[in-house]
This record gives sequence, C-alpha cells and structure tokens, in this order.
Amino acid sequence: MPQRSIIKGFSKLSPEEKLKVVEGLFEDTSGVGKTLRSFFHGDHNIQKILSELSENTLSNYPLPFNVAPNFRINDTIYMVPMVTEESSVVAAASAAANFWAARGGFKAKVLGTQKIGQVHFLFSDDHKKLEAASAEIIAFLKKRIAAIAANMVRRGGGITSMEILNQSQLIENYFQLHLGFETVDAMGANFINSVLEECSRGLADYFDQRPGFSENAYEPLMSILSNHVPECLVEVKVECPVEEFKNMVPGTSAEDFARRFVLAVEIAEKDIHRAATHNKGIMNGVDAVVIATGNDFRAIEAGAHAFAAKDGQYTSLSHAKLENGHFEFTLIMPMALGTTGGLTRLHPLADLSLKMLGNPNAKELMMIAAAAGMANNFAAVRSLTTTGIQAGHMRMHLPNILTQLGATTAERDKTLTHFKDQTISFQKVDAYLKNLRNPDG
Ligand code: MEV
Repeated sequence: MPQRSIIKGFSKLSPEEKLKVVEGLFEDTSGVGKTLRSFFHGDHNIQKILSELSENTLSNYPLPFNVAPNFRINDTIYMVPMVTEESSVVAAASAAANFWAARGGFKAKVLGTQKIGQVHFLFSDDHKKLEAASAEIIAFLKKRIAAIAANMVRRGGGITSMEILNQSQLIENYFQLHLGFETVDAMGANFINSVLEECSRGLADYFDQRPGFSENAYEPLMSILSNHVPECLVEVKVECPVEEFKNMVPGTSAEDFARRFVLAVEIAEKDIHRAATHNKGIMNGVDAVVIATGNDFRAIEAGAHAFAAKDGQYTSLSHAKLENGHFEFTLIMPMALGTTGGLTRLHPLADLSLKMLGNPNAKELMMIAAAAGMANNFAAVRSLTTTGIQAGHMRMHLPNILTQLGATTAERDKTLTHFKDQTISFQKVDAYLKNLRNPDG
C-alpha cells in the first residue's frame, strides 16, 4: 500500500519506530517485522557496520556470494568472487574461464588510470580576461589544494592535470575547471570531490582578491568527479587458432563457429539495440566482481556506457576478428576501481573477496573484473550463436521455479530428473508438478 501522507523526521526515529511506520503500510503486518528481522546479522558488530552504511536501514538484503574458479589472467590463476542473483552468470563465467585457461588464458593490461573531475562555473565578465589569467589561476589553485593532496601525493598519486575550458559555445558564460587525478589504489571519489570543492572556493577567493574582475563575475555551479573516464582503461584479450573450436558445438565446424561469433560481435558494433544487450552481458561479469569487492557498480556502469558512446554512436565494448585461421577477441573498457578505502575493507565480504584474490592493487583488480566481463561476453555470444541461451538459462533457473511452486524435496528430485533432457519452461514445470501431485486430476 502506498504511503498515505508525508512523514516528517522519519530518519530521526528509532529502528523500532521506523519498523512500526513501515508496518503501517501493510494490511497484514504479521510477517513484516519477522521477515525483516530474519535477515539481520547475528553478530552485532557486523550488523552495526551494515546498518551504518546507509540511512533508514531496516534489514539486510542478501545476494548470493559465488566464486568462479580457473580464471587464468596473465598467467596467474584466480578464484574470482562474484556477487550476482542471475542464475547462469557464474556458470557461464566459469565455463568460459575453463575454456580459455587451457588456451593461454586472458591477456590483460591497464592502458591508463587517470580519473577526471570538473568544477562547472559561469564567468560573466570579459572571457579574454579569464583566458589571460588562466596560468596564474591554475598556479594559485595548485598551491591552494597542496595540503589536501599531500597524502595522495605521498602514496604516488595526486593531480595530473588542470585546465580551464571555455564551454560558452554550449551555454552562455559556461566554463569548466577540468582536472585529471591519479588516485593509485583508491577509487578516490572522496579525495577528488574534496579537491574540486576546494578549487571552487579557491576560484571564488581568487576573483574576489584580484583587481580587474567585475563583482560576482564568478558563479560556481557544481564540483564533482566525472564517471566518464576514457583514460582509466583496461584491455583484455583472448586468442587461439580457429581449430580450437573444433568440438565447441556438435555439428558445427570450428570455422563456422568462429565466423558466426565474429559476425555477432560485428552486429553489436553496428546496431544499438544489440550493442546494449551485448554490453549488458559484459556487465554481468564485471558488476558481479565490482560488487563482491565493495566497489561502486553504478560508477562502473555509467563509465562503461559513456565510453561505449564516446564517438557519437553507442557501440560494443568488445571486438572480435578472424584472420588467417586465428581468432582474437578483445574488450577495452573504463574501470575506475579501488582496493583501499570506501567499502572495500569495511564490508567483511568485500575484504574477504580481495584477500581471496591475493590482495590485488587497483590495476590488478581492473584486469580481473574485465576478464570476468569478457568471460561472460564470450559465453553469451557462444550460446546465442549456437544453442540459444534459454536452454542453459532455464536449466540454472529450474531450482528457482521449483521453490516458487513450493516443491517438496521428493518433488524436486523427480522434477530435476524428468527435465534432465527436456526443454524447460515455467508452464511445463508447473504442469509436471500438478500431475505429480494429482495424477488423476
Ligand atoms: C543476459 O543477462 C545477458 C545476455 O542477454 C547477453 C547477450 O545477449 O549478449 C545473454
């Protein structure tokens, strides 16, 4: 039931009071508190960490924590933690990881690690005055932020570039202070945003203190990092002679498999509808690793799709080619990840995931997440161009259907055996169960 009226001061209520209000939304309140409480963590200290991550926490929302073994990446073999609810993602990633582990594995490299931040502002005096003062302003701001950046500089990072961009061709008097950042092993959002806000205050002081600028010439609008990070990039690649696909699909030659695979990727490069779904398949693997390691999957998603559209036409993030009997599949995508700070060490399972991966630095984690994306992409295109995805997907989904239909253990066993070599659909499973339960009906 929707809320009947506006509630004032909800966040100030105690957890019990919040629960009471929420229960008021239900006609039958009997199970609400019980369900919410049943997902609370038994360990008070862990629950405290989780509850403090957000406001108005009523409970936890568990997702499966899974692992995909045998990811050979630059000749190191990883057991990759993946948090996802989609039945076939881990199975698909594991199958692809196994296939490529025997064929040289994933070859990955980081192409860049620069992150971006912007101060957006209006400058309503003569633009030439601002251009003439640019170098002095930048020197002034660099001094101004030195103290905030000192720690990051000690860790090998800091501000890599700073420039003032005249964007008044887009919006009257619109300018940007555009900064590049190296944040080493931190995702760096807090660092970047703090620097940007200090730059914005610095700009205000500069124009106040320097003579020659009209009053209120500078109007700060917003200071925020950009999730479009085309220079924070990772590349991952797999390759093999075409004969390696010999037994990939019964009845399909290796050459035909590779030709159809490359064609499917070309369609994703050229058709936006296919590109979005193709890239979603990549993000199935990437997000699962990003979530498992406590990183911000919305940032990674935003960056991936902005990058996919950077040349004006949204396209595939991966590319395949077939030349002289040799197959090559490449994924290049932005990946602004961290292995320190944020949730990465605070969430016990994110910390455990990173330990499972051997405590990678940010660059290594970029390569691992990209390899998971490529594994899922390879598996999806392989299925799509051969058997179709439904057979595998529904097989993995069958236990969920059985749970939904309230199957007993005995009914589950019988149904799983029956559908071993049958096409699975919800209706078919439903009909089979009904018949089991009432053979004469
Ligand atoms: C489903 O989660 C992902 C796929 O749709 C990806 C694709 O179509 O390439 C299978």
